[in-house]
This record gives sequence, C-alpha cells and structure tokens, in this order.
Amino acid sequence: MEKLDNVSKETLDLISNIEKDMEKMLSSFRLNHSKYVMYKAVELANIYGVDVNKAALAGIAHDIVKEFSREQYMQIAKDNNIEFDEFELENEKLMHAKVGAWYVKEHYGLDEEIQDAIRLHTVTDPNMSDLAKIIFISDKIEESRKSDNFDIEYERKLSKESLDRTIIAILDNNIKYMISESKVIHPNAILTRNYLLKKIKSTEDNEI
Ligand SMILES: [Fe+2]
Ligand SMILES: [Fe+2]
Repeated sequence: MEKLDNVSKETLDLISNIEKDMEKMLSSFRLNHSKYVMYKAVELANIYGVDVNKAALAGIAHDIVKEFSREQYMQIAKDNNIEFDEFELENEKLMHAKVGAWYVKEHYGLDEEIQDAIRLHTVTDPNMSDLAKIIFISDKIEESRKSDNFDIEYERKLSKESLDRTIIAILDNNIKYMISESKVIHPNAILTRNYLLKKIKSTEDNEI
C-alpha cells in the first residue's frame, strides 16, 4: 500500500484486524473516512519525522466508537472511571474521543501516546504531542472531506509546512463557525489557540 509508506508489516496486520472489527461497528461512510485519516496521518508523520506506525493506528481507530449510543458511552465511562467534562455531557458527539482512547487500549493494547492522540482529536490541548496534532489535523483535512465553511485546500497545503499554523487555522474556522451558530465553544479550543499563537510569536521574535 503506497499510501502507507514506511508502516511495518506487523502494524499492517494489526490494522487489518482493527478494520474487520470496524466493519461491524461503523457505517461504510465512517470506515472510509477513517481510512483517509490514516493515509493523511501517515503522510504527515513521514514529513515531520513522527512514528508512522503510531500515526497509522491512531488514524484508523480515532472514530472507532463514534456510532455507540449515549447509554453505551455513559456505561463504559461509569465502569472504567472515565470522567466527562460539562461540555462533553452536554454534547455526546464529543464522548467518542475519551471512550475511543479507552477502547483501543482495552482491545488492542495500543500505547498511551496513541490513546492521547485519540482522546484529544475533538477538543485539542495546549500540550498535545506532534502525533496528536497530526491526528487532529488529518481528521479535518483528509482527502475525501469537503468543506463549505473554510478553504480546505489551503489547510492541506499549510499542513505540509507547519502543524501549529494548521491547527490555529482549523481552530479559527471552528471558533468562527461556533460563534455564527451561537454555540458553546470548548475552552480547550481557546487555550490551544492562544498557546500556539504565543509559541509561534516567540519563535519568530527569536529569529529576528
Ligand atoms: Fe471523531
Ligand atoms: Fe473523524
């Protein structure tokens, strides 16, 4: 598979097992999206020197529990000491991130860095790893995704130059959209955006 450059044979075998499970858990639309997120994550991991095996696994599995019901999320959370914040409790669409992180540990033994990347792909965090940045970005710009709200081609190009700038661009679009719809904005979106803006500013200042 040329779209999975440098991914090991062992990882490819694990991915095909995960995909078999996903075929029973997800619509073909979401399975397709997950494969495109995996391809984009591997492409970016190869550019930025991030572990391509972890990128492929986090990419394919990031939405693995996306079609669970609210009751299933609440039960799994109760049984495994997963705490949802007030924003997740209000919007169950956000719950698949924390439950997905738990699921890939429980069923496939995937490591903490992969779990963190899955956990943060909805709300972000100022201290997210490059792997987590790649999964967040790949989710939003994978090649099958279309967007009426923002210039996705610009973000696809930008993602090859700077992960931080791409995250800021995506968050800016998300925040503008949430404001136009009078929706609540998760505070992590603001915290991550502020942190990355300051980080870029201080790097530029040091270069002068
Ligand atoms: Fe998701
Ligand atoms: Fe997704």
